[in-house]
Amino acid sequence: MRRCPLSRSISLFRSLPQCRPYSTPRVAHRPTHATRPPSAEAIRTGLALRSRPDPYLLLKPQLDLLKEKLLNLVGSAHPALTDIAEYYFLHPSKQLRPLLILLFARATNGLGTDWDLKKWAAECEGAGGRAEELDSPLSRPDVLNDWNPSMPDHTASFSSVFSLVPPPPPNPPLSPPPRRLASSNHLAMVALDADPLPTQTRLAQIVEMIHVASLLHDDVIDGADLRRGAASAPAAFGNKYAILGGDFLLGRASAALSRLGESEVVELIASVITNLVEGEILQMNKVAQQSAALVGASYVGGDSWNIYLKKTYLKTASLMAKGARAAVVLGGAREGEVWKEVAYAYGRNIGIAFQLVDDVLDYESGEAALGKPGGADLQLGLATGPALYAWEEHPEMGALIARKFEKEGDVELARDLVRRSSGVERTRELAYTYADKALETLQHLPESEARGALEVLTERVVKRTR
Ligand code: FPP
Ligand code: MG
Repeated sequence: MRRCPLSRSISLFRSLPQCRPYSTPRVAHRPTHATRPPSAEAIRTGLALRSRPDPYLLLKPQLDLLKEKLLNLVGSAHPALTDIAEYYFLHPSKQLRPLLILLFARATNGLGTDWDLKKWAAECEGAGGRAEELDSPLSRPDVLNDWNPSMPDHTASFSSVFSLVPPPPPNPPLSPPPRRLASSNHLAMVALDADPLPTQTRLAQIVEMIHVASLLHDDVIDGADLRRGAASAPAAFGNKYAILGGDFLLGRASAALSRLGESEVVELIASVITNLVEGEILQMNKVAQQSAALVGASYVGGDSWNIYLKKTYLKTASLMAKGARAAVVLGGAREGEVWKEVAYAYGRNIGIAFQLVDDVLDYESGEAALGKPGGADLQLGLATGPALYAWEEHPEMGALIARKFEKEGDVELARDLVRRSSGVERTRELAYTYADKALETLQHLPESEARGALEVLTERVVKRTR
């Protein structure tokens, strides 16, 4: 273990901090000088010619570890709460959101002005960025009272009155390494393809926890019996536990978020939670409300498209966009540098593409895979892309959308109108448009294995069939 070069400035009252590399960065890649991004066509041709790293294989060890360690984060002294909090994590899943965050971390680490600082914090004891430090509470454990059998836990007993505990002497501050000058941007286009920092890995776990919390709540709202082919959490544990399990995950995610030591990231992720709620509310009310005014009118669905796409951003893309942006912040990108904007724009476009494909699959997979009629969303009263396009071609769809397909026979009629329209194909086309934009955005990053994997991931998101 090597000594931290800064240790001479540290008081003798505490043991000298130790530094160790958090991982082994790979050899620097050839810099590229992207000015104007190439067209989507040129990118696709380039993709076909270049070696194509499989995103899941590239990060498989990290993803496996991330999932294993995530279960430690959600342990509780109440076994029922642990069971429900773990439930969806134990099902096989695509881990799309953590993958996106880890890939963005790798594709941008080393580019931001404060990268050296972040790397130092990940390596030097006491700087707050080492993996084990992210598990340590910021407040005294007897104050925090956060019972988790998988984590250090010194909760004060409740069997007696609580006595004031004098605080320990504060640790002297560490001196961080000198900052790189913002103008010395010669490294700016060299991708290190360095492994994600511990803070970025923790962010990927936090984002997955928030996603799962939203699914727990969503399955209560939707009254879903199944998720990924198994009993849904409300079906297995009941609605009350599903809601409380989701709340518990949000609490744990928030505590972990604060330990990342980056208020911009806290702000970004907290705003994702509000976006998820806003998206769900918009889905429940607005599309139908908006449409109510249009009953009997010929197609005037422009506003409905706006609302639908806004809802799609809030419900799905916000977590990907702000999650990717947060990963880049944790890698040391400063305001005014393009990397954060690339992450947000990529995540926003790929997130919308992902949800549009989901909405297509709601029609397609029901018919092809399950032998059931597609359009489960119609049964929930939801008009997604295929129905909105079908409305353009069949004005009678407007009335069905307005009354949320509630009258007997509405769902079957709407399904038939979608089938007799080009709604499904046009929605997939729209997903391609968003994915192309996401691909184009990636061209602002220097070439690296991780960027290649993000390109492959983008293509898979739109081509997926389940
Ligand atoms: C799944 O969508 C659901 C979401 C993407 C978000 C749900 C958000 C909430 C319930 C708001 C509360 C949020 C938190 C963080 C507690 P879907 O129904 O289209 O997909 P599905 O078929 O997988 O259910
Ligand atoms: Mg649902």
